[in-house]
Amino acid sequence: MSSLPFTLKDPALFNNEAYCHGEWIGAKSGKRFSVEDPGSGQCFTSCPDLGEEDVDAVVRSSQKAFEEYRLLNPRTRAELLLKWHHLIRESRDDIATILTYETGKPLSEAFGEIDYATGFTWWFAGEAERIRGDISTPSAPGRRVLVIKQPIGVCAALVPWNFPIAMILRKVGAALAAGCTMIAKPSPETPLTTLTLAYLAEKAGFPKGVFNVMTTSNENTPSLSEAICKHPLVQKVSFTGSTRVGSIIASHCAVGLKKVTFELGGNCPFIIFDDANQDLALAQLTSLKWRHAGQACVTANRIYVQEGIYEKFLTKLVEHAKTIKLGHGSMESVTMGPLTTQRGVDKAKSQVKDALQRGAKIAHKCQVPSDSELRNGYFFGPTILRDMDSSMLVTQEESFAPIAGLYKFKTEAEAVKLANDTDMGLASYVFTRDVNRSWRMMEQLEAGMIGLNTGSSSAAESPFGGMKMSGYGKESGKDVAIAEYLISKTITMTVESASL
Ligand code: SIN
Repeated sequence: MSSLPFTLKDPALFNNEAYCHGEWIGAKSGKRFSVEDPGSGQCFTSCPDLGEEDVDAVVRSSQKAFEEYRLLNPRTRAELLLKWHHLIRESRDDIATILTYETGKPLSEAFGEIDYATGFTWWFAGEAERIRGDISTPSAPGRRVLVIKQPIGVCAALVPWNFPIAMILRKVGAALAAGCTMIAKPSPETPLTTLTLAYLAEKAGFPKGVFNVMTTSNENTPSLSEAICKHPLVQKVSFTGSTRVGSIIASHCAVGLKKVTFELGGNCPFIIFDDANQDLALAQLTSLKWRHAGQACVTANRIYVQEGIYEKFLTKLVEHAKTIKLGHGSMESVTMGPLTTQRGVDKAKSQVKDALQRGAKIAHKCQVPSDSELRNGYFFGPTILRDMDSSMLVTQEESFAPIAGLYKFKTEAEAVKLANDTDMGLASYVFTRDVNRSWRMMEQLEAGMIGLNTGSSSAAESPFGGMKMSGYGKESGKDVAIAEYLISKTITMTVESASL
């Protein structure tokens, strides 16, 4: 603990072992993997590198717990979730510190993520008591039909590194409210906050095995995930990550016909019409685009600006970008941290190179920090590209980096065509003051979530999820999210007439 690059008010919140059935455990192999601070490139701790041989014991713990937990009264489940919620909120400062060191995001964004994430514990505490079945009287005489909802069983959450707390609480909150048990496999880059959440779940009183955490390295992630997906006792898998990996997970789950929820890639268009409130569009775009250095599936990946305001809007965007302070996320003045991985930096560099070769121009590029202690951090200076077109890599794939590429368009029809010209369909954003156009865009854009004059549509009460290759199933929102963790049973019964 003394070698950690930060201090915590409550050191017990820092845990670096995997968690199963109320015990902190290591890997059967005894192996561990390193966890890095992306701001300095330094390893500051390690976690057990669990492998496929560790899966069965964890799943059996979750199944054992499920057999009791499923019977717990919904109000008791809600109370446990609320207790957990309050414990997380009380530890907000320490959790934000750990989050900043494992993801690289600035502290202010780490607090923002915790606030967003605890929206899910709060929301799903409420949902626990709203699970409802149905009763009907069918056409056949003397019949009644009942539909009852029950928890599906042991579930698994495979989560990415960009919003490790929010993604965990969005999935685990729904599962635990429904009466399921959950095995979380955090990303190898960001296992620590998930372990803190497990520690707090135990403190909140969740029974042993209700929430287990399997940490693993990048090397072991594919085989461990496959073993979880194919384990006969795992009934449901919720995955957030790339479309490529999502389709591999889908094929593993197909073997046992497991229920799945997929929140996959984005490549989201952000469209600004001539009649838009430009200041609003700018404020929403900068907050969406620069959040976590562009490392969000819902970020604006392609920015379409109508020709009448293109130059003016570009100038405003550049002026704003000059105010970004790039540096280590733990420094108060910093507004953008590093990328979480070196892979991210390499991809961003190759995308910018490709765009420039195909005719784009750099309108602005921030310099990476020159301080010696940040020299090995994964920094990529926020970059604004103009004169973008469809031939470029940035147009065809998510950047997951602070690259803002601006495209010029003339007509509404052209904007719709360009926006939909992708396999992805997670979110789309439109800025216009024309109500009729808003309706047309809402109906024509191919995306699971549409922001009208807003760049922020993620909230516990709003169904989150995409269409096309961005996945299926909804997380958060009323009824739909918890339904992902329930089975429906249809009961048909005969009611005899009373003999007079
Ligand atoms: C993501 O884009 O990866 C999730 C972000 C969110 O929940 O808003």
